[in-house]
Amino acid sequence: MASPLRLLFLLTLTYALTFTHTLAAESNDLKTYIVYMGEVPKGGLFSASSVHTNMLQQVIGSSRASKSLLRSYTRSFNGFAARLTEDEKNQIAQMEGVVSVFQNEMKQLHTTRSWDFLGFPQDVKRSPLESDVIVAMLDTGAWPESDSFKDNGFGPPPAKWKGSCDSANFTCNNKLIGAKFYNTEGAENEEQSARDTEGHGTHTASTVAGRAVNNASLLGLANGTARGGVPSARISVYKICFPGGCASVDILAAFDDAIADGVDIISLSVGGSFAFDYFEDPIAIGAFHSMKNGILTSNSAGNSGPSPRSIVNLSPWSLSVAASSIDRKFLTPIVLGNNMTYQGPTINTFDGANYTIVSGASVPNTKKGFTSDDSRYCELDSLDPIAVKNKIVVCEDISGPDNAILANTSGVVIEGDLGYEDLAFAWPLPTTYLNSTDGNSVLKYLNSTTTPTASIMKSIEPVDKAAPTVVSFSSRGPNPITPDVLKPDLTAPGVDILAAWSLDTTVTGSEGDTRVVPYNIVSGTSMSCPHASGAAAYVKSFHPNWSPAAIKSALMTTATPMSPTKNTDAEFAYGSGQINPLKAADPGLVYDAGESDFVSFLCGQGYNATNLKIVTGDSSACTKANNATVWDLNYPSFALSAKQSGSLVRTFNRTVTNVGAAESTYQAKVVAPTGLVVKVEPSSLAFKTVGEKQSFVVTVTATIGSKALSGSLVWNDGVHDVTSPIVAFHS
Ligand SMILES: *[C@@H]1O[C@H](CO)[C@@H](O)[C@H](O)[C@H]1NC(C)=O
Ligand SMILES: *[C@@H]1O[C@H](CO)[C@@H](O)[C@H](O)[C@H]1NC(C)=O
Ligand SMILES: *[C@@H]1O[C@H](CO)[C@@H](O)[C@H](O)[C@H]1NC(C)=O
Ligand SMILES: *[C@@H]1O[C@H](CO)[C@@H](O)[C@H](O)[C@H]1NC(C)=O
Ligand SMILES: *[C@@H]1O[C@H](CO)[C@@H](O)[C@H](O)[C@H]1NC(C)=O
Ligand SMILES: *[C@@H]1O[C@H](CO)[C@@H](O)[C@H](O)[C@H]1NC(C)=O
Ligand SMILES: *[C@@H]1O[C@H](CO)[C@@H](O)[C@H](O)[C@H]1NC(C)=O
Ligand SMILES: *[C@@H]1O[C@H](CO)[C@@H](O)[C@H](O)[C@H]1NC(C)=O
Ligand SMILES: *[C@@H]1O[C@H](CO)[C@@H](O)[C@H](O)[C@H]1NC(C)=O
Ligand SMILES: *[C@@H]1O[C@H](CO)[C@@H](O)[C@H](O)[C@H]1NC(C)=O
Ligand SMILES: *[C@@H]1O[C@H](CO)[C@@H](O)[C@H](O)[C@H]1NC(C)=O
Repeated sequence: MASPLRLLFLLTLTYALTFTHTLAAESNDLKTYIVYMGEVPKGGLFSASSVHTNMLQQVIGSSRASKSLLRSYTRSFNGFAARLTEDEKNQIAQMEGVVSVFQNEMKQLHTTRSWDFLGFPQDVKRSPLESDVIVAMLDTGAWPESDSFKDNGFGPPPAKWKGSCDSANFTCNNKLIGAKFYNTEGAENEEQSARDTEGHGTHTASTVAGRAVNNASLLGLANGTARGGVPSARISVYKICFPGGCASVDILAAFDDAIADGVDIISLSVGGSFAFDYFEDPIAIGAFHSMKNGILTSNSAGNSGPSPRSIVNLSPWSLSVAASSIDRKFLTPIVLGNNMTYQGPTINTFDGANYTIVSGASVPNTKKGFTSDDSRYCELDSLDPIAVKNKIVVCEDISGPDNAILANTSGVVIEGDLGYEDLAFAWPLPTTYLNSTDGNSVLKYLNSTTTPTASIMKSIEPVDKAAPTVVSFSSRGPNPITPDVLKPDLTAPGVDILAAWSLDTTVTGSEGDTRVVPYNIVSGTSMSCPHASGAAAYVKSFHPNWSPAAIKSALMTTATPMSPTKNTDAEFAYGSGQINPLKAADPGLVYDAGESDFVSFLCGQGYNATNLKIVTGDSSACTKANNATVWDLNYPSFALSAKQSGSLVRTFNRTVTNVGAAESTYQAKVVAPTGLVVKVEPSSLAFKTVGEKQSFVVTVTATIGSKALSGSLVWNDGVHDVTSPIVAFHS
């Protein structure tokens, strides 16, 4: 049986970053509200912040108004954040120009073999425009002195850059060109700086666009060249995450600034723990504004898998990225005194010294009232510190090492079938993790001798022949908000990734860990998202004028299909498959879409004028003419759900744009299992010019049972395979 601590630990370690600490206590029922007012008014001089102050003064009087106003959004959209009572909030909600008022919430933060594994070597063809691409990282900031962010050889930022380096204790350069921090809620004991004290933001930024650094490793593990997808691109960091989490008010502020600063791609490895409807989700709203301004937002899909419908960040105008493995894994051997060796998945940087080994169950801290039923899991304070000092302890729980180190143990064997076999965590002391079969053999050995000893060795790095597989923690579809938009969109490496780290923390951040490192190995959809962001930036460097939807389509239709046998959730785990950045730069055809398409989609979803405006921020309205079904959204994948088993027919209208050779002819190729009949009309598309659009209709007849049906449509011109999954399922 697991202790309740277990879930907490998994989340911390997979960088869902479950910051448990809550906000400074809310005083006098004042809460932080975001007053959202849509687009910035056009024409004439507009002083949004004085408008905001006036609005507040009308409701709460001038003395409190200036103190209450926390932040004005004035650059890319209009609105403000303020501390208000519920009554004041309700009054403001009635005022002219107010689109919606929502309460601030906390989101959580959700290498370098990985690019090589994707068939994207260091000497890949590069666009001369790569150094004009600016990627915005909305995260925990960055460690500006990291070798990954050195600017030797970089010219000044491109002329379009309007951002700034607006942070104490932080020097920007021609690589790391911008820095801002948002700490509206005033997280305590935090430096007022964009400097990363956590590691997460440094890791993600260097994965997107870190320059190549040789001889990078975690104390010798994963030794090699660490690099980002676009080493010549520029990085601007927007620090939105603090130990209390990542506040909606700050997320929106960062979108407001990043869009106005002139960035090309926004990378955001942050999310709530469940999906929100689009008009209640600050990330979906920020991403809509970025899409309107030609900027793709790349999002992590969440770390709440493998439960179905656990995916978050699923707006159709942004990219949702799952996490999968690469062909390197980490195993830590333990050698017992009888010379038997076992090994299991952890990241252990310590060299194996020989210690006496005991089971947690045999050493309860009886003085403090603990029994063997507590100490077998190595619960906090449950181990007798005298009995475990300088010994290795067997713990039947994943939280064991963090508790055992406080009792001065020298190592831990985590034992049991606990469900974290497909990734490796690092711990503050020598640790390996054995399944119950091997764990039992160790326990038997303990019983067989009066002098049991063991050594936990430094991790080895065998090849993972099964890769890529989607890791268990990666959040799964189906899409809980719009089932007929397939999510996640694709997958990218997110398991045991080496990338740059902050020197203000340690390998694990756990108490007792003293290892300060410039590169670290961590896992999460937080790590896969920046791989996709880097790939998107790579595509953008060749095609600066492509829309966010076109870039997303290029990434999806060229993704490498994955195995439904190894990944039993199939498309609900990996979407279109694993990113292939090289192919994405030359997709042949794209499924393009712009703001009006997404408005029509929302209209078809039954949005009324009020909640439509919350998402779009403008006066778009729903009419008969722009009322599109979900199946007609020009999306690069096809999904149809049914409430009941039985036969169902759906028609999908799609339009592709030729971005390959001017004269080209594509033939439709359909792969469909029994139960799925797919007709494509016309089944051949002839193009004469680049940029030409051609439409077609896909009719799917599905006999829906309990198991999802997966097929695909591939447009092929002899050079390109433009591939879209087709999924029919019982919702
Ligand atoms: C700047 O950051 C470093 C690293 O976190 C810290 O040690 C130092 O005290 C900071 N300096 C100032 C002036 O805040
Ligand atoms: C590589 O890094 C290690 C540890 O960081 C260092 O000891 C070693 O000298 C470096 N080797 C080279 C060739 O730079
Ligand atoms: C990493 O590999 C390089 C080149 O093979 C080697 O020179 C270096 O010593 C290694 N570094 C560590 C820390 O193992
Ligand atoms: C550990 O020490 C014990 C006794 O001190 C010895 O019998 C055993 O062989 C040692 N194991 C290893 C792996 O060195
Ligand atoms: C374990 O192996 C070592 C070295 O090979 C050997 O000296 C020792 O006797 C072995 N111990 C046992 C219990 O087999
Ligand atoms: C662990 O060791 C440290 C340093 O020797 C000591 O201060 C601490 O009290 C020990 N912890 C326990 C639980 O005995
Ligand atoms: C336990 O792990 C060992 C070594 O990895 C493996 O051979 C064995 O099949 C596993 N047992 C179970 C029940 O998973
Ligand atoms: C080891 O001995 C303990 C205490 O006698 C017993 O509870 C446990 O089941 C034994 N474990 C194994 C694997 O034999
Ligand atoms: C619009 O829809 C929302 C939620 O779907 C609902 O709360 C609101 O009352 C609706 N507004 C109007 C004017 O119908
Ligand atoms: C759009 O279509 C939906 C479903 O067919 C319908 O319920 C809704 O009333 C339509 N809205 C408008 C504005 O025509
Ligand atoms: C979809 O295509 C069909 C057949 O060409 C056409 O009748 C229908 O109007 C189209 N629907 C939309 C929303 O474009």
